[in-house]
Amino acid sequence: MKIITTKQDLQAAVQECKKAGKTIGLVPTMGALHQGHASLVKRAVKENDICVVSVFVNPTQFNNKEDLAKYPRNIERDAELLSSIGAQYVFAPTPEEMYSAEEMNTTFEFDFAGLDKVMEGKMRPGHFNGVVQVVSRLFYLVQPDKGYFGEKDFQQLAIIHHMVERSSMAGTFGNLQIIDCPIVREESGLALSSRNERLSAQEKETALAISKTLFSSLKWAKEEGATVAQVQQRVIDTINAVEGLEVEYYEIVDQTTLLPTSTFDHAIGCVTVYCGPVRLIDNIKY
Ligand code: PAF
Repeated sequence: MKIITTKQDLQAAVQECKKAGKTIGLVPTMGALHQGHASLVKRAVKENDICVVSVFVNPTQFNNKEDLAKYPRNIERDAELLSSIGAQYVFAPTPEEMYSAEEMNTTFEFDFAGLDKVMEGKMRPGHFNGVVQVVSRLFYLVQPDKGYFGEKDFQQLAIIHHMVERSSMAGTFGNLQIIDCPIVREESGLALSSRNERLSAQEKETALAISKTLFSSLKWAKEEGATVAQVQQRVIDTINAVEGLEVEYYEIVDQTTLLPTSTFDHAIGCVTVYCGPVRLIDNIKY
């Protein structure tokens, strides 16, 4: 496995693979890798000749400086994991390598047809502009055949699909296919997240109430016949009743439009919860 730190070296490596007729799978990450990321990488390794993993804590998608500063980083451990599961290239640039000073300080405005105006977009202004800024740059540099993203960040995935569909008309990213990968959970039900590293043992225990409540809500909807509004409120109340947890939002929305829905058809419930100072997200499809 080769670790690359410059855009130039990345493009040279990619060109060589392309010339040899090899297919490329890209897994964009911000590092602090866990088994959720590993599942994406293993799939990319299996489905492509070459797997490129980017490890880059993208400053332009953080609207909270403290969150950026505290985001866990451990490139040595990440590289060890990636090498053990068969990735061929790791792209780990510095922010200065990735962006010019102007790009770093300019707010890019993309049109996401309203997908960015709800949930995470409402709570973290500018977040998805930063995500699309970095993901589109990675797509441009790597020109992958397939890009792999986890469903834990469901709204991010919807926005990336939207971006790729729009740019496919212009042929910007060739025939790039976005592959949705299911959430990976601990046996306890806790959704794997790099942010879990910031939880104490006690907080990790407390956080279990999030997935447990989401799973119970399936039963409330399907077996008890509760309405969307009732399920939504009960999820919020159940999680808030746990000491140490505070719901920021719980929305039940249509999986395509991300707009609130009054039926469970094609619906997904997306939650954000503060567990102490750590902001956790999770979701469940009804
Ligand atoms: O999901 C993430 O880890 C990030 O938002 C991504 C897609 C790697 C872009 O920085």
